[in-house]
Amino acid sequence: MKSTTEPTKESPLVAPSYSRWSDDRLMEGSANDFMKKLYHRAKDIGDDLYDSRGYEFITLEPEAYRENLILYMRRRAWSEWWFGTVSPARQITLLPDSQLDLKLRLARQIRDEMRHYDVFATQLRRFGSEPRIDEFQLPPILVQMQQIQLDMQTAPEIAATNQFAGEIVLSSMTDLETSIFVKLFDEELMNAIRDIENDEPPHIANGRDLILLFCETPVQRRRLADGQERYLKAMMQLHVTEIVKLGCRRVKRLPVFS
Ligand SMILES: [Fe+2]
Ligand SMILES: [Fe+2]
Repeated sequence: MKSTTEPTKESPLVAPSYSRWSDDRLMEGSANDFMKKLYHRAKDIGDDLYDSRGYEFITLEPEAYRENLILYMRRRAWSEWWFGTVSPARQITLLPDSQLDLKLRLARQIRDEMRHYDVFATQLRRFGSEPRIDEFQLPPILVQMQQIQLDMQTAPEIAATNQFAGEIVLSSMTDLETSIFVKLFDEELMNAIRDIENDEPPHIANGRDLILLFCETPVQRRRLADGQERYLKAMMQLHVTEIVKLGCRRVKRLPVFS
């Protein structure tokens, strides 16, 4: 019988630690192959984190659930604003004029992200709250995630920690058949998340095209891999903590990098 206090011994997802690969190994394959490696690493982590089979459910008092859900949605609204506008704005600034098409696509992304902020604001009002991003107390792990993006020096490296990390992981909220959020959210909130996720493929495509600009050398590939790894590691901690607070317990070990 499964223990109710300890995670099961089921082996965790092992994500390849590309940043520790040798130069030769990093340069095996085309830029497109390397981009796909980064994509799948993030997607596999999203599928693992959001799979309801990795959790056991706990019934929360309705008021405790409401409070934790409000906190979750305020964090999401804050993230739509900061990760959705400040980071793409930095990318636009850092890109050369020759990348006009990408700059315009990033500007359209910012437009979408402000709409996502508004979707969370509407949902928060339904639960009797507001985003109040200026008063939002960032959990320390979110401060780390913000710092990781600020540490990135080029538009492609920001993409490795943003469109090609967080945004890929979040796509598993709605495209995974066994998504835990279907069990944790009511139908209206789940539909709001589906509405947001419909905007995401072009944002992930922005990430893809930025990554492809920066795969020429082992140094570039290592910097992309390292940024994505650092961000995914922090993001996993935040997301699992949030999921657990909405009424469950993680029974599968968290993904590891090796
Ligand atoms: Fe968004
Ligand atoms: Fe997005």
